[in-house]
Amino acid sequence: MIRIAVRRSAVTRVESEVLIHFVFEGWQKSARELKVLRTLTGVNLIPEGGTGFAGKERETLLLFPRHLSTPRLLLVGAGTHAQWSRERLRRAGAAAAKAARGMGLRTASFIEPEKEVTAALDTAPGEDPAELYGHALAEGVLLGLYRYDRYKTREDSPPGHLTRVSFITDSPSRETGIARGIALASVVCEATCFARDLENAPGNEIYPESLAASARAAGRRSGFSVKVLDEGSIRSLGMGGLLGVARGSRRPPRLLVMEYRGRKNGRHAAGTGRGPVVLVGKGVTFDSGGISIKPSAGMAEMKMDMSGGAVVIAAMQAAARLRLPVDLIGIVPAAENLPGGAALRPGDILRHHNGMTSEVDNTDAEGRLILADALSYAGRFDPSLIIDVATLTGAVVVALGHVATGMMGNDTEAMRLLKESGDRTYERVWELPMFEEYEALIKSEIADVKNTGGRWGGAIAAAMFLRKFTGTRPWVHLDIAGTSILEEPSDYSTRGGSGVGVRLLIDFLRHRETAPE
Ligand code: BES
Ligand code: MN
Ligand code: ZN
Repeated sequence: MIRIAVRRSAVTRVESEVLIHFVFEGWQKSARELKVLRTLTGVNLIPEGGTGFAGKERETLLLFPRHLSTPRLLLVGAGTHAQWSRERLRRAGAAAAKAARGMGLRTASFIEPEKEVTAALDTAPGEDPAELYGHALAEGVLLGLYRYDRYKTREDSPPGHLTRVSFITDSPSRETGIARGIALASVVCEATCFARDLENAPGNEIYPESLAASARAAGRRSGFSVKVLDEGSIRSLGMGGLLGVARGSRRPPRLLVMEYRGRKNGRHAAGTGRGPVVLVGKGVTFDSGGISIKPSAGMAEMKMDMSGGAVVIAAMQAAARLRLPVDLIGIVPAAENLPGGAALRPGDILRHHNGMTSEVDNTDAEGRLILADALSYAGRFDPSLIIDVATLTGAVVVALGHVATGMMGNDTEAMRLLKESGDRTYERVWELPMFEEYEALIKSEIADVKNTGGRWGGAIAAAMFLRKFTGTRPWVHLDIAGTSILEEPSDYSTRGGSGVGVRLLIDFLRHRETAPE
């Protein structure tokens, strides 16, 4: 557990094991920066003196000045002034925190950059640069320090337990803004790390029933309700997709239905508000492919095929803890896709919750089969918007790599807002088209729809399938197959589950609420 707090202090009086200072490229030519560095180091740093420290991103330099109240000063490269941004701040914060932890330190303090530097983070009217500074820096620290070490019985990395982090400022007016940013980031990053934990947990720990238990515990902790439907209820609801996918496993399926009501009573009833936002998350707790079995190389990462479900549970947690003024429903169809003796066969036909039939051409296209039931079930809540989040296709990874989430849907305004949220949070989304021609891909000769679309346009074919079950309701589909499951660590994610989607959705919900209806 990492605690971040803002502290008002002069930099020379800070009590901490290390003082952290961001330095921009070109510091050697900045008279002002040279002066700041003289105050901090107690010596004149000679620009040509060959520290080898240029101030590039991810560069660090550790110094031991004698006259400070901290024994160490860590200079952290921030890149060029011109390209300074919230994302650069997150990365610099993560680099600094990881370096401090690597030294085995428990406490660290960040020096606030010059006013002009933090003001550059403010790109929209009404945003408080101090809050944005506290927010983005705290995100970098909290997400950067994450690691999944629950199953390590002995410590094989440095004994770092950085637990107390301070953001130093000398301005009383900025102090409150920074504190607000830290508070917001703490809730959202804790939720993101909760999603990462669920994603990274192995398939023998997380299966439909235990995923449901995690959601229940989160609901109790954070203040949202959780209803778990068992196999019998799922059958009564006619959810042939969810039942069908689960048939090849001994683990029975579950349908999680979560509810958080943050709007003032009566707003919706009075006709001045809108129906709830329904979040739907794919909860395939392990995807072997079923009878259309996957190659064994890399199959282990399919323990993360419940990422969408994890993100929905975690977003419910963050929304409830932040007391967002929204009505939110979370639906997670959870099943394990295994090739047992009762498993779905290629060619089988299923009947879904809305009565439509689908031909199972490939049992590895299971996500859309369970989402079909959940999306049609979402209709009963009279939603103003449905957003589904799913590690749905390998094709979206081919198209966008691990950099952007694929976005498709029919609600152009919601997609515009999601794009803005993606840019702010750096959980970026990119729209793919749903042109009518793609419809032909999923045509079946014997059922209403077929669950595969051939070799090309796979991410879109999957979305065309989902659209059959949302009808004309406002809907956005987020395919996080590439952004959720990382093959390499990034600046503030480890390899594996990234928790992508939690920050995006919370930012979206916060901004949508203030947008005109
Ligand atoms: N869970 C996978 C998609 C996936 C692939 C997620 C790689 C993350 C990384 C999904 O269930 C799947 O297997 N999709 C198939 C669909 C195909 C059979 C039409 C795919 O993408 O290959
Ligand atoms: Mn699959
Ligand atoms: Zn899958």
